[in-house]
Amino acid sequence: MSDNLTISSGEDTFDLAITDGTIKATDLKQVATSDGPLATYDPGFMNTAACKSSITYIDGDAGILEYRGYPIEQLAEQATHLEVAYLLLNGELPNAEELAGWEREVNTHRFVHENVAQIVESFRYDAHPMAKLMAGVASMQTFYPSARQIEDPESQRRNIVRLIGKMPTLAAWSYRHSIGRHRVYPNDELGYVDNFLAMLFQSQQRVYRPDPRVSRAMEVLFILHADHEQNCSTTAVRTVASAGNDVYTSAGAGVGALFGPAHGGANEAVLKMLREIGSVDRIGEFIDGVKNGKAKLMGFGHRVYKNYDPRARVIKKATDEVFEVTGRNPLLDIAVELERIALEDEYFVKRRLYPNVDFYSGLIYEALKFPPEMFTVLFAVPRTAGWCAQWLEGVTDAEQKIMRPKQVYTGHRERAVVPIDQR
Ligand code: SDX
Repeated sequence: MSDNLTISSGEDTFDLAITDGTIKATDLKQVATSDGPLATYDPGFMNTAACKSSITYIDGDAGILEYRGYPIEQLAEQATHLEVAYLLLNGELPNAEELAGWEREVNTHRFVHENVAQIVESFRYDAHPMAKLMAGVASMQTFYPSARQIEDPESQRRNIVRLIGKMPTLAAWSYRHSIGRHRVYPNDELGYVDNFLAMLFQSQQRVYRPDPRVSRAMEVLFILHADHEQNCSTTAVRTVASAGNDVYTSAGAGVGALFGPAHGGANEAVLKMLREIGSVDRIGEFIDGVKNGKAKLMGFGHRVYKNYDPRARVIKKATDEVFEVTGRNPLLDIAVELERIALEDEYFVKRRLYPNVDFYSGLIYEALKFPPEMFTVLFAVPRTAGWCAQWLEGVTDAEQKIMRPKQVYTGHRERAVVPIDQR
């Protein structure tokens, strides 16, 4: 393994240091080309590190995912979402006293300003809840202007706690608005996930208490979705933060990026795909369509995982617990058979396409009676902890600058403007 790269260009030779498996892109500038100093062209950042981070580690070939060094499988088995949020933000797991204090702190910030509720409810009832959530999150900066002091550690912490505390309320109210039901306010007797479920499903008469198996399954789903290093929405958060923006404005951009069907919107698209396939005997026809480029196998493939997404494995196990309560989702049979066929088919094997986190999660959400439009909202709520940790790491990283990539210009040059009556 070499720790330096030698580039020869014409008569010149350049030695570039290799550190952490990378060269500094700016070191390439010493190489002159006919189009100016050498740069890299990397659409979609297929092979470019934009930051240093110690939050989440992924080994895509080995199917490994760790938060601050802890394997996701152990955290999903033993931790709670707020415990993992603490870990992502502080770098260490809390002890019992630290966790109790953290839960109290987050849970005192569950209420949302009534004006924010009005912003969410100013949308048409059938507007996509991700649009309502994006507006609600981005509006929060106007209620907490101190959040703009992004250098102040106290303001950083206070506004991160507020956002993590309020996200479930905003998400639940987006849902209630879409089904024409009254807002359910946070209940301090309930934990983070159970309170979220109650704000979603509480009816007028009953005090909603989720089945413990449903509650645990949602906790596991929250843990699995909490962070995933430099994915598209986290990159959006870091990009907006790099211009000096507060955590709400940055997270609002994250919600927008996550909305995309190639990213967090895939869980909604998986259910739509399974419904369109309709039955196990029509899978072959669908797979042929994918191979002919007519459709993508949603919930499959990943920029980093070229092996089974470890989260998909844990979620598939969680489906069993939930279906004990809700009854088995018949679409699961199509999903399991689709996975079996895809894992044997040369087209997918050659492209190293495996189920990702979105392939099975939607089946649980549907069994819990969420409409598909809510699936990505259920991704955004837990991912808020990761966005906050990544935002904090970005705004406190002395090496970071405002993100402003170069381009390869392919347009016209130096044309004279012709008067309009001569065009
Ligand atoms: C998430 O980055 C993250 O960490 C994201 C995430 C997180 O936690 O934040 O993990 C969450 O977004 C998971 C991914 C959810 N998206 C989907 O399930 C949508 C379907 N998947 C694809 O759109 C795709 O796999 C991506 C976007 C996920 C990854 O795309 P890449 O890395 O840019 O890969 P690519 O498009 O270059 O594909 C390589 C080849 C291509 O074929 P060829 O041109 O070589 O012939 O594989 C094909 C692609 O056409 N391919 C697929 C496919 N995904 C890739 N073919 C059929 N179905 C698919 N799903």
